[in-house]
Amino acid sequence: KPNDSLDGKRVLVTAGPTQEPVDPVRMLTNPSTGTMGFEVAREAARRGADVTLVAGPTSLDTPPGVTRVDVRTTEEMHEAVQSRREEVDLVVMAAAVADYTPKNPSDSKQKKEDGNLVLHLRRTPDILKTLGEHKQPGQTLVGFALETDDGPANARRKIERKNLDWIVLNDPKEEGAGFGTKTNRVTLFHRDGYAEEVPLQSKSQVARILLDRVTASVPEPSGE
Ligand code: C5P
Repeated sequence: KPNDSLDGKRVLVTAGPTQEPVDPVRMLTNPSTGTMGFEVAREAARRGADVTLVAGPTSLDTPPGVTRVDVRTTEEMHEAVQSRREEVDLVVMAAAVADYTPKNPSDSKQKKEDGNLVLHLRRTPDILKTLGEHKQPGQTLVGFALETDDGPANARRKIERKNLDWIVLNDPKEEGAGFGTKTNRVTLFHRDGYAEEVPLQSKSQVARILLDRVTASVPEPSGE
């Protein structure tokens, strides 16, 4: 089989934003459209992988051959991912997950009152860090990082802290990269120190380059 084949590999991709409810008609979210993760899922399926895509709210169509699981909150994404973690060879965590969620979301619409409103937030579970803590033998974990400052140093720290194999650094200040664009410019970091700047191009091409590099580092199942 060709070198870039993912035949027989089980791949889990997350994509899109999460929505954290404040009350039934309000939420905390971010401008992620899910494009980068959907392109990774599409390309992995094209290469023969068995792909599950855990998607936050997005208007994108499911790529051909991909099994899609829709979620809304970080907590729901956490459950969808952790329940599958023992059965996947590669996880690409491209979702823009919320770090905080309202502590006491209201069941009814909050009325406005005079003066300021204080919203109490609590930390969400770190989905990827949890995967890193339970990493299966031979499993490859890929994270994304969006940094406005000290990108490379932060990316490397995240590889260590979350026990990742690869991290994809996005610079949101870069023209044509990051949220809501069709293109991206990223830097790939491997845990062994390898780094590669991927020039600005379509997110589908970035997905191909990412999977090329990652596939080259995914171990073959023993006995094959
Ligand atoms: O820590 P930071 O949010 O920058 O890490 C980015 C990576 O961690 C992304 O791959 C993101 O999807 C993942 N993440 C997660 N759970 C969180 C926060 C981030 O899986 N609560």
